[in-house]
Amino acid sequence: MKIAPSILSADFAHLARDVEKVEQAGADLLHVDVMDGHFVANLTFGPLVVQALRPVTNLPLEVHLMVSDPAAWAPAFAEAGADTILVHEEATDHLYGVLQHIAATGVRAGVVVNPGTPLSSLEEVLPLVDQVLVMTVNPGFGGQKFLTAMVDKVARLHQLRQDRGLHFDIEVDGGINAKTVKAAADAGTDIFVAGSYVFGASDVGAAISSLREAVQ
Ligand code: DX5
Ligand code: ZN
Repeated sequence: MKIAPSILSADFAHLARDVEKVEQAGADLLHVDVMDGHFVANLTFGPLVVQALRPVTNLPLEVHLMVSDPAAWAPAFAEAGADTILVHEEATDHLYGVLQHIAATGVRAGVVVNPGTPLSSLEEVLPLVDQVLVMTVNPGFGGQKFLTAMVDKVARLHQLRQDRGLHFDIEVDGGINAKTVKAAADAGTDIFVAGSYVFGASDVGAAISSLREAVQ
């Protein structure tokens, strides 16, 4: 399993310090939530923060674009040093083209589905992507409750990957903690985003270890 702490719940006044903390605690990658105040009702930051983080960590940076115009923003995040760019299915009428374009810049391309979006809407793009992110909360905020109904969606995606002989990573985002992680893991998740559970803990190392132990 891979664990991707979401910096949405980090201390923005001490971002480098917090990133270093999770890196030393054994995080596998960093999840970077970009929100434009339009696609979701919250506003975070742009490519400058990714550019600033790039030299302070060796962890891969995955950028979760919660923006209304992903085609317009993806190149700037690629340029800033993103390793993976995740685009919402709901955000563009040109999903195939946006993913092709991201992959052509040498960045891993991923697609994201909101809780209400069916997997059938991904049918045509699955061969293009390196990663599929199943939202396990409605996007916009950290600290929400895990939607248990999404476990079945992960299981169906896992089956679909097998049936079609594809190799994308399956990721979940939202409400992951030591209680919810097991069901998602059993359903076939490879990468687990965890924001408030990791950064809200007094001991981030213990929090990350507890996620690994919970799936044993
Ligand atoms: C929500 C974000 C998540 C968020 C998860 O829209 O995409 O990445 O940081 O936070 P937790 O783990 O607290 O649910
Ligand atoms: Zn996210």
